[in-house]
Parts: sequence; C-alpha cells; structure tokens
Amino acid sequence: MGLNSLVICCFLMFSLLFISGKNWQLSLAELIAYMQARQVNFEIHHVSKEFFTIQTHHAIDLKAIEELGGTIKIGQIMLKISSQQIKDAYIKQDKQAEKQIAEALEKSGIVSQIVEHANGKVFFGVSVYLEDKQLKSRAGEIQRLFGSAVKAKLAECGRKARFMGFANKAKGQLSHVEVIKKGLVENKSEILVCIGRETSWIATTFAVHNPFEFQKRDVYKPRQRKIFGMPPRLAKIMINLSGCTEGKTLLDAFCGVGTVLQEALLIKADVVGTDINSWCVKATKDNLEWLTQEYDLRNVDYQVVQSNVHFLSRKIGVENIDCIVSEPDLGPALRQIPTTPYAKKIIKKLVPLFFGFIEEAYKVLKCGGTLVVVTPYIVTRSKQIVTMPIGEKAENINFMRIKPFNSEFFDKTLSNIDTLTDLESLIEVDSRHLIGREIHVFRK
Ligand SMILES: C[S@@+](CC[C@H](N)C(=O)[O-])C[C@H]1O[C@@H](n2cnc3c(N)ncnc32)[C@H](O)[C@@H]1O
Repeated sequence: MGLNSLVICCFLMFSLLFISGKNWQLSLAELIAYMQARQVNFEIHHVSKEFFTIQTHHAIDLKAIEELGGTIKIGQIMLKISSQQIKDAYIKQDKQAEKQIAEALEKSGIVSQIVEHANGKVFFGVSVYLEDKQLKSRAGEIQRLFGSAVKAKLAECGRKARFMGFANKAKGQLSHVEVIKKGLVENKSEILVCIGRETSWIATTFAVHNPFEFQKRDVYKPRQRKIFGMPPRLAKIMINLSGCTEGKTLLDAFCGVGTVLQEALLIKADVVGTDINSWCVKATKDNLEWLTQEYDLRNVDYQVVQSNVHFLSRKIGVENIDCIVSEPDLGPALRQIPTTPYAKKIIKKLVPLFFGFIEEAYKVLKCGGTLVVVTPYIVTRSKQIVTMPIGEKAENINFMRIKPFNSEFFDKTLSNIDTLTDLESLIEVDSRHLIGREIHVFRK
C-alpha cells in the first residue's frame, strides 16, 4: 500500500447505521461494549428505539453481525437529508422535494452501487424505519414512493428494475429473513431509509443477522432443557457486555446446558463451566462437543466441572478468570403475577445464593476482570418492582459497577441522553415469563 492510500485510510471516516433487535437498550449497550473491547474509537451520533448511527475511523469487520446478539442490520450511510424534505416528498407528495431527493440519491452513489452489483434485471429492496410514532402508519407509503424514485433512476441508467417492498405494508420493512433469502446484502441492494425527528439517513445494508444460525444452536444442540434456558441472543449480548474477546477465559458458574459457553467458544474464548447438577455438567459437555464439530472449531479449550457455587474458588482456583457471565436461578416458575409480599419472599430466599456467588466471583476473577450477572426483576400485581439488592453487596466486596452508557461515547451535541447515562443496569422482560431479568456489569 502506497503512502497516499495509507494516509487516506487513516483519515477515512465510516458512518454506520445499526438496526437494533427487540430490546434497543440492550442492543446499544452491547454495541458500545463490543467496540470498546476491540479498541475501536467511535462516536454515537443518533440514538432511537429503531436505529443508531455512529462514526468511526475503523472499518467494521463483516463478522461483527455474527458476534452481536442485538443487531439486526448494519448499513453504510450514503446520504443524510432533512426529515422535512422526506415528509414533503413522500407524504405531502411535493414534486419539487421528490425531484431534489432523486438527485441527491443519484449523487450519493446508491443507485450506481446497485447497478454495479446486479446482472440483468435489477432486484432491490427498501426498508423504512421511522422514529416518529405518528408517522409509523405511513411507512408502507414512503417505502413504495421511495422505491419508485430509485426505480426511475435505475431506468435512467438503462436498467429495468423490480423492487421488494410490500411484504408488510404497515411496517414498511423487509425482515432479515427476506433480505437473506433474496441475496440483497451480496448485491448491495437493500436500501435503509431511517427517518429521525429532524434528520434522516439513507444507507445500504452491508450485513444482516442470520436467525437460522441462532436457531440451529438453540434447537439442534443434543441436550435441551425447556425451562431455565437462556436464548443464544441474550447469551451473546451478555458475553459482549463482559468485554470478552478471543483468548480470554470466560466462566459461567451456573452453566445449565451450556448456552453461554457455546456462544463464548464461537469467539474462541477459553471457557470454563460449573453447575451443581451432574446432569447439567454432562449435558454441557455434550453440547460443546457437538458445537466444536458442527462449526469445525479447532484449538478451542473448554472445561466443565460439577461444583456448588459456594465452593467455586476451591474448585477452579483464584484469579484465573477474565470474565464471568452467569444467570443463576431466578426463582420458581410462576403461573400468575405475584403479589408484592410473595415477590419479596422469592428474592429473600435467593439472596444467599446470589451473595455467596458474587463473593466467590470476586475471588476467581483476575484484577480488572468483569462479572456480568442476571438477577430477578419482578413487576408485582400492584405494579411495584421488586429486585435483588445486589449493587450494594457488590460494592461492599470492592466490585465497581460499570454503567451501560458512558457519556464519553456520545456526540456532545446529543440531547436527552441523561436518562440513558443515568442507568445502572439493563432490563429484559419477556411476556412469556413472569420473572424478568436485570443485567448488571461489575469490574474487580
Ligand atoms: C437459570 S439456570 C442457567 C441456565 C443456563 N444459562 C442455560 O442457558 O442453560 C441456573 C443453573 O444454576 C444451577 N445451580 C443452582 N444452584 C446452584 C449452585 N448452588 N451452584 C451451582 N449451580 C447452581 C442449576 O442447576 C441451573 O442449571
């Protein structure tokens, strides 16, 4: 590489757009932790429930989408325009505004990129993501008009085109499955139209989450357990929150059937699992064995032993572990929403297990090591929230709480991020379970 191209690379700025999964706060916290763990310098420029934009000097590796549990699509931003212009063009159907956008589209390189990657008749897709709730019902309409504008530009380039945009009229978005099945990523032919309150970003999808891989690991692993299981998506998010990368040692002290360990092994961490239940120890070993064969993983290291968490340091030694990612028992399977006194009783009964665990976690972690732990989060019949008082206990044994959103990663001009930067933990509630998850990150 000549000196000039090296200089250009150093100063090149990548503007990226991320479409988040179902829990946008978890997705954003994961993304921040993921980039931090890989020493990527970045700045977050826009945050909404639907999408985030970031700027970075580092090119993002395509495998990032496989390593992130909470991101559905990653796009390269090609054009930034005012949202008013989009509304004028596609809601008021102002011809002048439509013409201006069509010209901007041409200059942005989106159309020529589609042409370059297509053989014969062009096939492309448009997905519209709207921040403004009131406009959401118009997404299908914007999708159709925007698609027609791109189609007209392609016709000017002498290319016949067809676009995919009516799969779900109300949402105006193509699902990741549709994008994968139609090969839109390889052909650079899905356009993301992300409309914020004031600014809008138009991007080309360059990576999309593959749900079939998660499904394979979830459903086809040889040992299953219907209750207590953690979805691979959440396991991945928690691993990223721990800052775990290739070569680090990760422990799950409540490994169950090994969901966390499977995901950690895929990023080539050295994994250690313990569980009190001998069936779980055997099941985890079988699942990890299956994973190494299924994914042809070579030179990976795993160790699974039976242990009561209260004797963890005696079993696996002290200061050996870089990251701990664990979900202990969260309480009984409930049939109905609990009353507040009953929820408090559940928590009280679990306190010795959790407090004993974090004492042992402190001992086995290396200095600077990270603990990511799930505690129960119960919304009671009277809508009170009952949680485990783990923060105080952790601080008493010298753990430092890591807040999920540090203001240093956000563009200084962004307003309304105080509600994010004040958050101490992350919440995941799922309508199927009456006990939700509170996710904490602590550093030794
Ligand atoms: C919620 S499950 C973990 C699920 C796991 N993440 C998975 O996806 O399979 C909690 C696990 O903690 C184990 N466990 C309960 N009490 C324990 C203790 N005192 N020491 C170690 N393991 C314990 C249980 O056997 C159970 O497998």
